[in-house]
Amino acid sequence: MTRVFSGIQPSGVPTLGNYLGAIRNWVPLQDQHEAIYCVVDLHAITVWQDPADLRRQTREMAATLIACGLDPKRCTLFVQSHVRAHAELAWIFNCVARLGWLNRMTQFKDKAGKDREAASSGLYVYPNLMAADIHAYHATKVPVGEDQKQHLELANDIAQKFNHDYGVEFFPNIEPLIQGVAARVMSLRDGTKKMSKSDPSDQSRINLNDDADSIAQKIKRAKTDPEPLPEHMAGLEGRPEARNLVGILAAVTGTLPENVLREHGGQGFGQFKNTLTEALVDHLAPIQAELKRLLEDPGALDAALHLGAERASAIAEPIVAKAREIVGFLPRR
Ligand code: TYM
Repeated sequence: MTRVFSGIQPSGVPTLGNYLGAIRNWVPLQDQHEAIYCVVDLHAITVWQDPADLRRQTREMAATLIACGLDPKRCTLFVQSHVRAHAELAWIFNCVARLGWLNRMTQFKDKAGKDREAASSGLYVYPNLMAADIHAYHATKVPVGEDQKQHLELANDIAQKFNHDYGVEFFPNIEPLIQGVAARVMSLRDGTKKMSKSDPSDQSRINLNDDADSIAQKIKRAKTDPEPLPEHMAGLEGRPEARNLVGILAAVTGTLPENVLREHGGQGFGQFKNTLTEALVDHLAPIQAELKRLLEDPGALDAALHLGAERASAIAEPIVAKAREIVGFLPRR
């Protein structure tokens, strides 16, 4: 059976981008493959996290994933720092990946900003840890949004160099699964920037826990252009904000952007935004109700995560033990 792995950072409330680009696609994979999903707290601390916030957000992220349809009985759901194999393999990969490769990572450049000297060294080697997350399980399919593609290419480069340097066929090639019409959901304030948990403006994103009023207000204020909606896809050319809103409605109503335009083409944005708001509120309401219920019982949530970590360790430990042996480390007792 194919093994699927993916992860999400607990560095804030998940956005509609996280949901449409990744989480929602993880749900059906639970029944088609052996699926392993991880809340990546080790990745989160590559930028400053307040410890109390990190603890709360890690639980909230796990609960959100369950509320979105992940079932800890049908998949392995756990917190990254609970499984030692990730950090251990990441160190080996730090010694395999080349500085030149890391220097090309666009996400580091974006996240480090202008003052690169002040960025943590963890942020720089972030992609090596991500490669370790996947390779520690010999996972071969990785469902992610478009923005993670470059990191997955690096994960393949690392695996190939490891295999080549040590003369083994140990780490398999991985394949990104970038699915759906919303593999890249854009900011509501700027259609050329991705929607992100870390954008300073809350108006730029829909958070999965936004109530109906905030959703209505954010969609109302979302940037658009003065033209009405076109009737065909060609009419979205050069209109990133319009394209984004059409894509979001298509994704939440389970259709294609072409069909959205067939139905709403010719409408002004005022009317279209009302339809979009209603669709979002209807879609998110059951998720929010389930999230609230799950957070009322943190004990049950922690128990599910500990079980998930045990299952994950049972898979990753022997793989990483073999990697240690290949590298030439003496066996542990
Ligand atoms: P993170 O936490 O930034 O995002 C989690 C997932 O959401 C997707 N995503 C989006 N998709 C569409 N439109 C958007 N605006 C949008 N914003 C985020 C991301 O592509 C991602 O799939 N490095 C990863 C976490 C990670 C990981 C891994 C992923 C760590 N180890 C191993 C896969 C495999 C990250 O920061 O995701």
